[in-house]
Amino acid sequence: MSHGEIRADSEPARTRPRTRVELDAIPAYRAGAVAPEGAYKVSSNENPFPPLPGVVAAITDMASNVNRYPNFSSESLVAALAERHSMPPECIALGTGSVAVLAQTIAAVAAVGDEVVVPWRSFEAYPILVQLSGATLVKVALRSDFTHDIEAMARAITPTTRLLVVCTPNNPTGTVVTEAEITELIASVPSDVLIAIDEAYVEFVHESVRLPSLELVRAYENVMVLRTFSKAYGLAGLRVGYAVANPRIATALRKAQLPFGVSSLAERAALASLANEHELLRRVAILVDERERVLGELRAAGVEVVASQANFVWLPLADRASQFGQYLEERGIVARPFDGDGVRVTVAEPPANDAFVNAAIEFAR
Ligand SMILES: Cc1ncc(COP(=O)(O)O)c(C=O)c1O
Repeated sequence: MSHGEIRADSEPARTRPRTRVELDAIPAYRAGAVAPEGAYKVSSNENPFPPLPGVVAAITDMASNVNRYPNFSSESLVAALAERHSMPPECIALGTGSVAVLAQTIAAVAAVGDEVVVPWRSFEAYPILVQLSGATLVKVALRSDFTHDIEAMARAITPTTRLLVVCTPNNPTGTVVTEAEITELIASVPSDVLIAIDEAYVEFVHESVRLPSLELVRAYENVMVLRTFSKAYGLAGLRVGYAVANPRIATALRKAQLPFGVSSLAERAALASLANEHELLRRVAILVDERERVLGELRAAGVEVVASQANFVWLPLADRASQFGQYLEERGIVARPFDGDGVRVTVAEPPANDAFVNAAIEFAR
């Protein structure tokens, strides 16, 4: 066999490296599509603003140090997060994005024969991470108004359930779980089942409907919260997220972390971002205003759209979802269609939002 030649798939299976059967059930993760030059990329819920002031300088400063491993336990960032949330540092566990922290969570609590309950439709990574772990995936359908069906999630718990994931605001529908609902859920879930509240988009949620999630972590050993620097903080490319959890759970999550995953660049960038709260809040307010403008203009034109508390909106187009995704793409807007279900569109810079609103109104006609 010469260089560059790949062994054909027709080779007898027994002569080829074996992969786990679990992988056969896992769809290949479809990251937000690549947007052609000049198109608006509104497919990955990224932040349209550049990194916060001080971030680029902090990364540049650290760049000459990348021949060294990062600090294994990222003490500075852990300390800053502990202070921010008024929690002891033992309660913070980091990872390369909150998706990695969720993978650490699953690895820490569930194995073959255990069940993990997730809402559905929700974040695409949930089924992948659960199936990869070998644990059994239990999907609980959203209600017809695209919110979590809390009663059905509680009913889905069995003696083998180890983890229940709550996604609020839910990706891709933008709906939130209320304080009454989370209280009801915690009350009905056995205390040996961990509840992970994924709050990747929490900064975009109006204060009046924000969960007292850190208070819940303080009050219940089986409640943990996932947060990320990828969305409001605009550091998606640097990969850093974290959990706030009971110290015993946080220790388990740290054990399941890949060594040296969080880079020194990511740590410095996250620290510089945390030091810029004022500008962060200003940018979040702009994006929230844009979200409300988009929702208002679509509704005024009779386009069905779900009320969102995140930095994206959901058009429940059912079997016209793929067609609308294609329609947008032809107009230079790369969104995220989910075949047969709906289309998720990130709230981005105003010209992108305008182009999307106009296209959605035209499509509805
Ligand atoms: C609900 C939810 N959780 C977690 C993530 C992962 O974010 P990251 O791994 O970049 O922190 C995403 C990203 O899209 C998300 O939508």
